[in-house]
Amino acid sequence: MKVVGGTFAGKIADLAGAEHVGVEHRVFPDGELNFRVLSEDLEDDVVVALRKRPGEGVNDYLVKTYLLTRTLYEAGADLTLVMPYFTYARQDKVFRPGEPLSSRHVARLFDPLIEKFITVTAHTHRRSSLLPLFDHAEAVNVSGVPALAEALPELEGPFVLGPDTESVVWAEELAGLLDARGHGAFDKERDLETGEISIKAKDFDLHGTVVMVDDMVSTGGTTERAAREALARGAEELHITFIHPVLADGALDRLRSLEPASLIAANTLESPVSVADVVPLVVRHL
Ligand code: R5P
Repeated sequence: MKVVGGTFAGKIADLAGAEHVGVEHRVFPDGELNFRVLSEDLEDDVVVALRKRPGEGVNDYLVKTYLLTRTLYEAGADLTLVMPYFTYARQDKVFRPGEPLSSRHVARLFDPLIEKFITVTAHTHRRSSLLPLFDHAEAVNVSGVPALAEALPELEGPFVLGPDTESVVWAEELAGLLDARGHGAFDKERDLETGEISIKAKDFDLHGTVVMVDDMVSTGGTTERAAREALARGAEELHITFIHPVLADGALDRLRSLEPASLIAANTLESPVSVADVVPLVVRHL
């Protein structure tokens, strides 16, 4: 088996006992992407594992991943695609007429080319499985929550709190792994026109240690608002965890201003807080 990609692919290859094949990248002056896979023998079991780079837009990442996957498919490889942060998964429903069902459209770009698709904690809140997105490929949605649990320090019966309704599934999973005294999630409303968020707190006993968990932090607004509520309701030691560190400009500062005892994200994207390693979780599914 060969694992094609950068440092994330290299880690997968090391752990899986496979060969790592690097990729050289070039960008033309108009922004067009080009690359070269640094191996000529690609008619084999091949894993493509590309992680979006810091500062790279999701569209560039997607085009690059598509071109690479297509190139390997045409070279005759049997392909598994590892997309640790499933881009465009946020739009997992047509909220208003005229919008695209982006998660499905993106899945269908890759579906005819690959045998297996592996991602980590996909943002498909309104779908219990990734299967309806793919017709052909086996789709695996690996939970990144065990990696967060592993990266946290030893804690005495924390309360695990999700900042919004959908996050209760991750709160429940993390609570089980941490032997927590309880778990739950606040509710959040987002105005579809303005994007304005409001948090509705619930009557949990948050005194003592609170571990917050979400699938991603983008602007940091959701986590910050929920964390301020938790602090106002008695939380004394706050640990902030999330899977995907999307981290728009200023998000880390927002989170750090809460003075958390720890700030932990998974390495599905590179960031200064990507300390929870999902590679062992991914390798189990190869
Ligand atoms: C929403 O459904 C997600 O689970 C996250 O809570 C959200 O995407 C975080 O976004 P932001 O950090 O911009 O509030």
